[in-house]
Amino acid sequence: MRPTTASSLFDDAILVTGAGRRVGLHLARRLMRSGHPVIAHYRSRTEGIDGLEQEGAVCVQADLAVNEDVERLSATVRNVARSLRAVVHNASSFAVTAADPREALVQLDLFYAVHMRAPFALNLALADLLHRCSARHADIVHITDIYADKPNPVFDAYCATKAGLQNLTLSLAKRLAPKIKVNAIQPGPILFKEWHGPEARTRVLAETPMGEEGGAEAIGLAVEAILANHYQTGAVVAVDGGRRLA
Ligand SMILES: NC(=O)c1ccc[n+]([C@@H]2O[C@H](COP(=O)([O-])OP(=O)(O)OC[C@H]3O[C@@H](n4cnc5c(N)ncnc54)[C@H](OP(=O)(O)O)[C@@H]3O)[C@@H](O)[C@H]2O)c1
Repeated sequence: MRPTTASSLFDDAILVTGAGRRVGLHLARRLMRSGHPVIAHYRSRTEGIDGLEQEGAVCVQADLAVNEDVERLSATVRNVARSLRAVVHNASSFAVTAADPREALVQLDLFYAVHMRAPFALNLALADLLHRCSARHADIVHITDIYADKPNPVFDAYCATKAGLQNLTLSLAKRLAPKIKVNAIQPGPILFKEWHGPEARTRVLAETPMGEEGGAEAIGLAVEAILANHYQTGAVVAVDGGRRLA
């Protein structure tokens, strides 16, 4: 399945960013196992990436906060794929906004680069490959956050840039229709970070009507549903166990 020569380029591949671990790794594996050629982007090399490579994915390292890396990533995608079925923008940087204003601005620049600039640049650079998809539609999926609509001041820089990505979903849905659908998925408490303590976990789950973490498969199902739906674009789909209602 892996292209080795120019004559064996991937057709209708799916690019997943941030595929080294957690949700991104699950999405890349799941899409591959449902028959899609996958190009898995990662920043840090992981055992998950080794496994994806063994299963036939093309894995590409890039720091999405570095413009040259983003350009190299899109160039590599063009070198391995003749057409794209989808791009799933999953990579994300998440942290409490620093108390020191200068540090907070450094964070804002980083979040902007990863959540807005890189997805925007990749979407524009790869739009022609999406247009060449042999399916009726191609898809761009932006993974945002319920905090895009309901920001948490503790994470304001993160929330604002996820809201920016969500806004891009709406304009790109108009700009790239009808061939390319553009939708956003807003996760809620899907997988806690290792640094979430027991108190935070209990509080978040108490505010979540479904009362449990969603798990990566909840996002896998949402991506599958978006790809399957010929009439959904510019939609923002919450996958949060109802947490946004709290
Ligand atoms: N997990 C949740 O409960 C939850 C809740 C709300 C929203 N979301 C959203 O859902 C998506 C998946 O969540 P997750 O928890 O699996 O995310 P995660 O653990 O934070 O992983 C994100 C991935 O992005 C990569 N990344 C971070 N900065 C990068 C950079 N500068 N360049 C390239 N890659 C970079 C990471 O690579 P490294 O391994 O090198 O760090 C990692 O593989 C994210 O978009 C997240 O914002 C998740």
